[in-house]
Amino acid sequence: MSRRDTILSSLKAAAAFGVAATSPLGTLLAGPAAADEASPLAGLRYGAAVRDVPLAVEPEFRAAIARHCRQIVGEGGLKWYDIRPTREQFVFDAPDKHMAFATANGMTLRGHTLVWYGAMPDWTKAIASASDAERLLVGHIETVMGRYRGRIKSWDVINEAIPDDPTSRSDIRPSIWQQRLGEAHFALALRTAARVDPEAQLVINEYDIEFVGDRYRRRREALLRLIRDLKLRNVPLHGVGLQGHLRGDLAIDREGVAAFTAECRAMGLAVLVTELDVIDDKLPGPPEVRDILVAAKAYEFLDAVRAGSPIDSILTWGITDRHTWVPTYFKRTDGLPNRPLPFDAAYRVKPLARVIAHVLRDRR
Ligand code: G3I
Repeated sequence: MSRRDTILSSLKAAAAFGVAATSPLGTLLAGPAAADEASPLAGLRYGAAVRDVPLAVEPEFRAAIARHCRQIVGEGGLKWYDIRPTREQFVFDAPDKHMAFATANGMTLRGHTLVWYGAMPDWTKAIASASDAERLLVGHIETVMGRYRGRIKSWDVINEAIPDDPTSRSDIRPSIWQQRLGEAHFALALRTAARVDPEAQLVINEYDIEFVGDRYRRRREALLRLIRDLKLRNVPLHGVGLQGHLRGDLAIDREGVAAFTAECRAMGLAVLVTELDVIDDKLPGPPEVRDILVAAKAYEFLDAVRAGSPIDSILTWGITDRHTWVPTYFKRTDGLPNRPLPFDAAYRVKPLARVIAHVLRDRR
């Protein structure tokens, strides 16, 4: 599908969204309004990823999180290289601060993440045996989940288990855990997590399953194969996290996504959107146009998700365009700042915030 067609389909989605929302398209997709506009998201099952520096030194950031969110997740802080600088050490400074902020503001904290190929400290490369790997993985989950038992209510136990471009349904992403323990490490981690905190929602989290195209279809199939296998063996698993790092220039596979979420629902799994943002490096420059296309892309995605299953909650990977990972990998060639998140760099409400609010309010 050409870029022109993709943008046209977004505009069509924007128009469709207008009708669906029975609200004047103008208001929902209107440009950034004053920072004091009432929060469209307050009280809804919405949350955002937080970063340590702005949380510590930026009052506007803290105020925006407190005003709009019911849930937060650390963009970092609970990853292995944050917590385990050495084999012997556990460092909880960052997640303790996230938990303190959440508690002080009547919010919950999500846990991200216990088993991931990424963000691993170098010393883990020396894990040489299956018994050592099992001891370390189980010990890590016991210590980390044990510390936040009953306080962190939802965990990304498994993150990005599927290779970037799987060639078969049984493909699993290489990692030290896969290398030392094989696919059994997923069940080991989930069973350990359920033993340590039987009340916690245990989630498998993944990216790039939303778009039209063979690669994305194969990723959905490989993820579903793994989930079905875990469910068949009664491994405790309660939810699927769709990260939702949407490419503004790629078409959403509505049928594929709806069928995926419908199957997850049929297996008794909650469907969460865990890291929503819209990567806008290939979208037109003018912010007022780009913001509408960003919102329309998110609506296209969220509407496809809820066509198969209710959406448990929506988290964005950051809250303001001022603090986002997107330019690290998707800097715009025109030099304009990226605008992937629901609030702009001045914390003004953007159409994306209204789209998320509309979808959360309009629970089907
Ligand atoms: O904290 C260190 C700092 O001490 C050091 O000076 C600096 C320079 O190397 O690095 C800082 O660590 C960075 C860390 O973010 C904290 O800002 C790491 O280099 C950097 O790689 C890390 O990037 C994070 C990335 O995950 C890897 O953990 C991004 O902020 C974060 O947005 C990204 O989030 C991932 C999700 O976990 C999973 N899904 C995709 C998503 C986006 O890639």
